[in-house]
Amino acid sequence: MVKTKISLLLPLLFFTLVGTSHAGGIAIYWGQNGNEGTLSEACDTGRYTHVNIAFLNKFGNGQTPEMNLAGHCNPATNSCTKFSAQIKYCQSKNIKVLLSIGGGIGTYTLASVEDARNVSTFLWNTFLGGHSSTRPLGDAVLDGIDFDIEQGSTQNYDHLARFLKAYSKKGKKRVYLGAAPQCPIPDRFLGTALDTGLFDFVWVQFYNNPPCQYADGNVTNLLNSWKRWTSTVPAGKIFLGLPAAPAAAGSGFVPADVLTSKILPVIKKSRKYGGVMLWSRFFDVQNGYSASIIGSV
Ligand SMILES: *[C@@H]1O[C@H](CO)[C@@H](O)[C@H](O)[C@H]1NC(C)=O
Ligand SMILES: *[C@@H]1O[C@H](CO)[C@@H](O)[C@H](O)[C@H]1NC(C)=O
Repeated sequence: MVKTKISLLLPLLFFTLVGTSHAGGIAIYWGQNGNEGTLSEACDTGRYTHVNIAFLNKFGNGQTPEMNLAGHCNPATNSCTKFSAQIKYCQSKNIKVLLSIGGGIGTYTLASVEDARNVSTFLWNTFLGGHSSTRPLGDAVLDGIDFDIEQGSTQNYDHLARFLKAYSKKGKKRVYLGAAPQCPIPDRFLGTALDTGLFDFVWVQFYNNPPCQYADGNVTNLLNSWKRWTSTVPAGKIFLGLPAAPAAAGSGFVPADVLTSKILPVIKKSRKYGGVMLWSRFFDVQNGYSASIIGSV
């Protein structure tokens, strides 16, 4: 009896000491190229656990907010409501669908705490569990909001995060928060917001940032940065954000074999490992990146 117990316990002890490997998912940005296929097609691949619909790229400072989904549809003529059923379809497959606010091109800022409060009210009523006569994505209730803030004011995103998270208590459905900071710490736009500890998913952009990305066969800078993110930034899960193809970013593309052999085995030991984020669905379709890595994520 005693012998059997010890032989069962030893492997357990071994794994505790050496570090367990954690399973993760793939998050994808969808919405910025009309030739990337529909939302349902993305979800039908079975490879994504999170989809960020990109972007709501005009908000704040009293502006009337606007969404931009490139060639997919035109919010001004209400043709994006066709994605309502597709959002529900993705959610029925247990895929979390978030609205990403910000992006590289747009007009957005948060001018004050009051402005942040107003934007949070707008997001709740227009895309989450609230009600509005104008819902560009129809009556589908998104799982949360992703912050991809790259311009405008660096202020008040912590307040926006608090106001949005407060709706988690009011509605029946939890409001998830995602963020896509650049890898240098602290992120200029999102550092203060991340310090709130309210973000469930933080998909760090390990690209377009030479001090903390992969380059020429060398994984050192990326792995050092990953260690800093997972040990110093409070967050639910941290994802390794990567370009899905060389053309998807200025620099930082990681060949799939390097990712699966030299990076994933190391970062999967982190308790906070959530998986890999890819920019974007369009480039993933072109390059087949998620298909190459899914078995190792
Ligand atoms: C916030 O919303 C209120 C109510 O609609 C409005 O009176 C106020 O001007 C708004 N504040 C800002 C900063 O946009
Ligand atoms: C990889 O990069 C690190 C950090 O820049 C550097 O110290 C190291 O020498 C590089 N390793 C190789 C094999 O080039």
